[in-house]
Amino acid sequence: MSEPKKLFIKTYGCQMNVYDSERMAEALGGQGYVETKSADDADMILLNTCHIREKAAEKVYSELGRFKGLKAEKPDLKIGVAGCVAQAEGQEIMRRQPLVDLVVGPQSYHRLPEMEAKTRAGEKALDTDFPEEDKFEKLKNRPKAKRGPTAFLTVQEGCDKFCAFCVVPYTRGSEVSRPADRILREARDLVERGVREITLLGQNVNAYHGAGPKGEMTLAGLIWELNKVDGLERIRFTTSHPNDMADDLIEAHGTCDKLMPYLHLPVQSGSDKILKRMNRSHTSDSYLRLIERIRAARPDIVMSGDFIVGFPEETEEDFQATMDLVEEVKYGYAYSFKYSTRPGTPAAERAQVDPQAADDRLQRLQTLITRHQREIQDSMVGRTVRVLFEKPGRLPGQMVGKSEYLHSVHVVAPEISIGDLREVRITESGTNSLAGALL
Ligand code: SAH
Ligand code: SF4
Ligand code: F3S
Repeated sequence: MSEPKKLFIKTYGCQMNVYDSERMAEALGGQGYVETKSADDADMILLNTCHIREKAAEKVYSELGRFKGLKAEKPDLKIGVAGCVAQAEGQEIMRRQPLVDLVVGPQSYHRLPEMEAKTRAGEKALDTDFPEEDKFEKLKNRPKAKRGPTAFLTVQEGCDKFCAFCVVPYTRGSEVSRPADRILREARDLVERGVREITLLGQNVNAYHGAGPKGEMTLAGLIWELNKVDGLERIRFTTSHPNDMADDLIEAHGTCDKLMPYLHLPVQSGSDKILKRMNRSHTSDSYLRLIERIRAARPDIVMSGDFIVGFPEETEEDFQATMDLVEEVKYGYAYSFKYSTRPGTPAAERAQVDPQAADDRLQRLQTLITRHQREIQDSMVGRTVRVLFEKPGRLPGQMVGKSEYLHSVHVVAPEISIGDLREVRITESGTNSLAGALL
């Protein structure tokens, strides 16, 4: 038998890209590829890219430039670009960097095997269509390999919200939900392979409305179905839009035992003027009231969010409104970004904020967020949490896992195995993680 060919995939961007990279590796597995951790011994290199901010997109070209020497040494090496930069720039990528053999958009991964064959025949392969078929269904012939205790599962893709700063509606297309039976089948398969926690993914996951046995199912409906899967212990989902936080989903946070008390609910800004200009269709007040209702259903829930500072026309006063909102919510985690102009989006045409003012605001926001994050993490000391252990730690006998609130927890206890779910009493709070002892 011939040596298997080696595939190196580098993933940028969001969790959906992580999920997609796994699917691409499986699709190319059927063509005789096995994954390698090093680009140097690869027969094919795939960059699964992100277009969300300018820096993310530009990284791809500098990374590609680094493969020049490798390609010169190994003329048979094939180089491909997948993901959102592939979708946004298409053919332009091959023009700008001729060593690229293959460009595949996020909706066309099921066509990778044919595309790979084309590159082996010495041709370039490009596919950035938005086909009607469910690519994940076409990709389902996956090997039944054992897996770690946590997994992502994409349930919904694309977005129809068109926030004025965002490329996702263009790179991922309009919103589509996968049918519930396929998701449940995939979840059961993951559980059989060792998975105990599933994070449901979608650019707008709480807008999920896939076909179910009795008509359309909501995300809450899907979560309740997953709640019945034996062996599955934890359910999470990300990313949600405030406008799609339906009553049944809020209620599920209080009643569904496998649904974890953690919610990523980006608000982007605390200023109603800016929110309006962002086309976010919620106000800071409607967002705060929503959080009140969520906390009424699940008082210990840890909130997480995303922020953009320096959005066009943001004044110091607008920024202060963001700081006030953060002060009120107190996020356990939050991700904040300086606004990045994305060509083709409505905000790109508007008056930009002075970059230094934006840097300064970002710094202040991050300092505040870090303080809250730390306070919430510190408040775990003395409490008992349940930890799903994922990997060994750096010290002898140490294991690391996640609490229900998504905090990393270190425990020294050699009797723990990966995949164990154990009660832990938290004794210490460090910079980025907690430490505790088995109960
Ligand atoms: N669908 C999700 C997130 C998509 S992108 C949502 O609606 O929240 C992830 C985050 O990147 C966004 O929440 C936003 O904070 C940030 N982001 C998106 N476009 C950006 C841009 N042009 N500049 C800076 N940050 C951006
Ligand atoms: Fe982008 Fe807005 Fe859609 Fe989120 S909701 S993916 S930020 S357009
Ligand atoms: Fe980036 Fe595309 Fe995800 S732009 S954040 S990889 S949807």
